[in-house]
Amino acid sequence: MDNSKRLVLTGFMGVGKSSVGRHLAQILKAERMDLDFFIEKNEKRKIADIIDIDGEDAYREIESANLRKLLNEYDAQVISLGGGTWIVDENRELIKRKGLTSIWLESTFEHCWYNIKFSHKERPLARDKDKARKLFEDRKKIYCLADWHFIIKPEYSSYDIAKLIYDEYFL
Ligand code: S3P
Repeated sequence: MDNSKRLVLTGFMGVGKSSVGRHLAQILKAERMDLDFFIEKNEKRKIADIIDIDGEDAYREIESANLRKLLNEYDAQVISLGGGTWIVDENRELIKRKGLTSIWLESTFEHCWYNIKFSHKERPLARDKDKARKLFEDRKKIYCLADWHFIIKPEYSSYDIAKLIYDEYFL
């Protein structure tokens, strides 16, 4: 078993990056970080406020700066990204340069949308279903640049997915 591999989880909003990351870190007995949480703690603002008040472009700058900080200053083995982090070229290059493996959690739009609707997390880029679906379709071609790809079936729990990743990637 190789327990030293570090990875980032990417995929659309609502696919379960944070909860899969939590379970995977528990299975690995490893440290995990969540980029969205890290940003809100560092910036002392909610991501939704940053996007709504400063705009998405400004948010992407803040997100990239925080990703840099997280990767330079911490060595967590499992990192859950925000849904748009992997879409930015500079972020993908940094993740590769740092030697982390990227894992794309893919599900259907309807499954992600269901989770978005039932979550308490405020997501400014997913307030409108048609716009969110368009974003989902546009982003697929970039998510698929990740090193690994796991297809999430709606009947899988976050733990099932974490275990699947562990079995296929760490054993
Ligand atoms: C975003 C996804 C969100 C958060 C921000 C922007 C996106 O994270 O980073 O609202 O662009 O897809 P989750 O994927 O964890 O919801």
